[in-house]
Amino acid sequence: MQHTRTLFAGAVLAAAITASLAPAASAQQEVKIGYALAPNSHYGVAAQRWQEVVEAETGGAFTFRHFPSSGLGGEREVIEGIQLGTVEATIVSSGTLSNFVPEAGLFDIPFLFRDLGHARRVLDGPIGQDILAKFDDVGIVALAWGEQGFRHLTNNRGPVDEPADMAGLKVRTMENPVHIAAFETLGAAPTPMAWPEVIGALQQGTIDGQENPLSVITSANLAEVQSYLSLTGHVYSPAVILVSPAFWGGLSPEEQEIFRQGAAEAVVAMRGFVDAAEASGAEALRAAGMAVNDLTAAQRAAFQAALAPAYERYYATYDRALIEQIIATE
Ligand code: PAF
Repeated sequence: MQHTRTLFAGAVLAAAITASLAPAASAQQEVKIGYALAPNSHYGVAAQRWQEVVEAETGGAFTFRHFPSSGLGGEREVIEGIQLGTVEATIVSSGTLSNFVPEAGLFDIPFLFRDLGHARRVLDGPIGQDILAKFDDVGIVALAWGEQGFRHLTNNRGPVDEPADMAGLKVRTMENPVHIAAFETLGAAPTPMAWPEVIGALQQGTIDGQENPLSVITSANLAEVQSYLSLTGHVYSPAVILVSPAFWGGLSPEEQEIFRQGAAEAVVAMRGFVDAAEASGAEALRAAGMAVNDLTAAQRAAFQAALAPAYERYYATYDRALIEQIIATE
């Protein structure tokens, strides 16, 4: 009898130990991740890569629940959700970022970066990392800079080759003061609007056009609602991977390291998607029926010259020496 009792107690103890080691389904922590674009976009592939790394490295202790295509609302609302802790993670553009961290608007200055390599070196270097650290002060954990590519103009009025072609053009811009100042200076009629409203506004004709990188123009099928694409490349468009401090604070240091590693790999995936879109996006959009015009170096320089009054406004807001340091970065 005594022997049977000992065996039973041993079996109960073994079962308890096994249960405490195995990741029980109910112990899996859900990570709600929201982003503005489709799963087959640069945001979708980055979120997927992040999930793969975290799931593999934590033995499935976390599970990602994706809310693509603005499923949790516009980017401003999602960032507010990050601050409140109702959303664990997001990948967003710089659209509304400067409303949270004013210094982030520095990277939205038109014609600041020469090419993707230049932008990546600055964002991954001390200037980019210093600005990333400032998110802590406003209740946001910023893990890494990603990107969308260079923004180009699409519209339904006609090709844009020179600043005069912008006159009165109703262009949707992000809710971003740096971009709005640029389009006002060019003589357009900038209409700041959250992304979830843009396709409807283009269909209804309340705006003539919008501007976004090829990664967005292709993955959001803008050829269905826009006839002209002008490869203005007027501004680099960063993206950023954010996490809620409430979620982050609940992770062990080892788990935080895994989430950081996963975010770094997500950036590699995002940049790979952007490289591919920059290489073949214009051709794909031509094939989809858009009239695509590239700008010569002289035409681009004319846009840059026309923006001189806007730069005076930027110098009043941002440290001119820092702007010059970015431009001088090899
Ligand atoms: O234009 C925007 O608002 C952004 O580039 C987008 C499309 C939401 C991606 O972050």
